[in-house]
Formats: sequence, structure tokens, C-alpha cells
Amino acid sequence: MTADVAVSARPAEVASAPRPRIFSGIQPSGVPHLGNDLGAIRNYVRLQTEYEAIYCIVDYHALTSTHSPDALRQRTREMAATLMALGLDPERCTLFVQSHRPEVTELAWLFTTVTPVSWLERTPTYKEKRQNQPEDLNHGLLAYPVLQAADIVLYKASLVPVGKDQAAHLELSREIVRRFNAMYGETFPEPQPVYTEAPVVLGTDGVRKMSKSLGNTIEILAEPETIRRQVMSMVTDTKRILRTDPGRPEVCNVCQLHRFFGGDYESIWEGERTARTGCVDTKKLLAERIAAHYAPARERYLELIAAPDRVDRILAEGAERARPLAAATIAEVRQRMGIR
Ligand code: TYM
Repeated sequence: MTADVAVSARPAEVASAPRPRIFSGIQPSGVPHLGNDLGAIRNYVRLQTEYEAIYCIVDYHALTSTHSPDALRQRTREMAATLMALGLDPERCTLFVQSHRPEVTELAWLFTTVTPVSWLERTPTYKEKRQNQPEDLNHGLLAYPVLQAADIVLYKASLVPVGKDQAAHLELSREIVRRFNAMYGETFPEPQPVYTEAPVVLGTDGVRKMSKSLGNTIEILAEPETIRRQVMSMVTDTKRILRTDPGRPEVCNVCQLHRFFGGDYESIWEGERTARTGCVDTKKLLAERIAAHYAPARERYLELIAAPDRVDRILAEGAERARPLAAATIAEVRQRMGIR
């Protein structure tokens, strides 16, 4: 795992000390893709045992790009079911919906008053949205990273498992925290990202990061046939024209993804390098392995989504568990800032 900070098993002598807190958020964007899992969710699952983990489905953030109430409600529940199906255990972590802890909007507002607009205008995601969403360039898009900073530090989390695409947002969170601490006294820890071994998963085009908005995803909980179709559409080594041409596994996204499925990455690599295997074979195998790997999660997902009351209850309990932390931070911040 590459990480900006070392995250490893905690030695026995500190095992009884309070566990450091981690936080992460994910948008309720429908079916999760391989990038979400390899880049972030795997770490959510892994870290929930060692750390005090808080995970949030960020519906307020989603409103910056979605204005369909029914779809938002449905996808929020689907994302909760997905995260649990992939291994988040509500007994071990706190899982809730962002808007169910409305203190976050108060903290976000307070943070806007210490955040220069120029910091927000230079955020890469905002610049992208200016291009991709010109007809709905709402204020929320500009303030998005301020709300993200508030998400994290409302719970005074110091570690944030995310993919590399969130690096700029995390940097901005640290800047906001530094500025707040300098103006009002040491209040918040500076949050650090924690990356997996796959901090950037490329999409089926093999060039851009996998992203729902780019339509280049592999949907991990989809039916095996959908997974197969998506994997078979993947762009491989573009310089390998004939089946007998030796490939360049180091630039082939299909080969790179085999690293995470099945224990024979070296053999796959060698097969491609020496033209023992063709791209189609390697893709077929990857599709089978991805579908098989996620089959149990898919089954759990279908069970959970058929029990919406249970999912909603877990989310409500998560929000309740988060309440005292949020209340304590807001009380402290109000006091420091002179809000009475
Ligand atoms: P979101 O919902 O776009 O993505 C959720 C998580 O998946 C990771 N990810 C990827 N990792 C590697 N390769 C990819 N192709 C890939 N695509 C997505 C993301 O890095 C992320 O970790 N702004 C956040 C949500 C958020 C948040 C937070 C995150 C709101 N508040 C506080 C952390 C802390 C977002 O839109 O993630």
C-alpha cells in the first residue's frame, strides 16, 4: 500500500489506547465501479478493524450534480447496501448519510468564512465542472471542497482513505484547517490521505480514470454478463496489432487489473510479454475473475436492497452514533469563533 502516512497494524502496547479516527465519504452515484472499490472501499473495509472508522454517503455533495429527488433517495440507500455488501460492518464502523448529521452544513458555512475564493476557483474538479456542467455551474460546486473539509474534521478525523483523484480536495482541507487553527487556535488535526495499491484505476478506455461520468466503468455488482461486456470493451496495449505481436503488459490496463484478481499476475504478465496469450483471452479471464470475486457481494447486496427498512435503520443508528462527536465539535467551534 502506498500512503502519505504509514498505516499498519497497531502494536500491542497501544492497542488499548483510543483508536485514531478515520473518515471517508462516497457519493451516492448508483452502482459502484472497480475504481471505487480498488481505490477506496477496500481500504474502508480493511481499516475498520484497526481504527475508529466513520463512513458517510454524501448526499449533500451529490446535489451539486443531481436534481432528481427520487433517484437521489434510491441511490443513497443503494450505496449503503453496496458498502455493507462489500464488507462494511455496522458493528465495527459508523455508517450514515451526510444530511442526517446537519451540523456539517453549519461547519461548512463557518469554514467558508476562512476560505479564500481563489483557493476554490483553482480546484481541479471545479475547473472540470466548469467545462462539463456549464449549464448548472451552481455555487455548491465551488463550495464543494469546503463541505468536504467540514465532513472530515467535524469528527476530528486525521486519516482519510480515498483514491488519488481526491488528493487536491484533501490538500485544500488541510489548508482550511491550517488557516482555521492559525486564526482561532489549535482545534483540528490536519487530515492525511491513505491510498491503496491502486490509487488511480483507469477506465475501460485505458487512458482516463474510471468514472461514472465518463462512461468507462466496470460495475462490480452488475450481472456477470454486464461485467463481461464491460471488460471485453477494454482498450489494451494499442501498439499490439497482431495476436503474435509481443505485448507491453506494463501499459496494458487489463494486465494491470489482473494484479488484484487471482494470484498469477506474473504469469499473465509473461504471457502477454511473450505473446503466449492474446488480449481476448486475458480479457475473458479477467471478466470471469471479477464476476466470481464479486458474486458473494452481489448476493449480499440483493438481500440487503430487498430489506430497505433494515438498511434505513442501520443508517439512522449510524447518524445517532455520530451525533455527540458532531455536537462537541460545533460547540467548540462556536465558542472559538464568537458565535453565541
Ligand atoms: P467519489 O464518490 O467520486 O468516489 C468515492 C471514492 O472512490 C475513489 N475513486 C477512485 N479511486 C481510484 N481510481 C478511480 N478511478 C476512482 N474513482 C473513484 C475516490 O477517490 C473516493 O475515495 N469528493 C468525494 C466524496 C467525499 C469525501 C468526503 C471523501 C465527500 N466528502 C470526505 C473523503 C472525505 C467523491 O466525490 O468521491
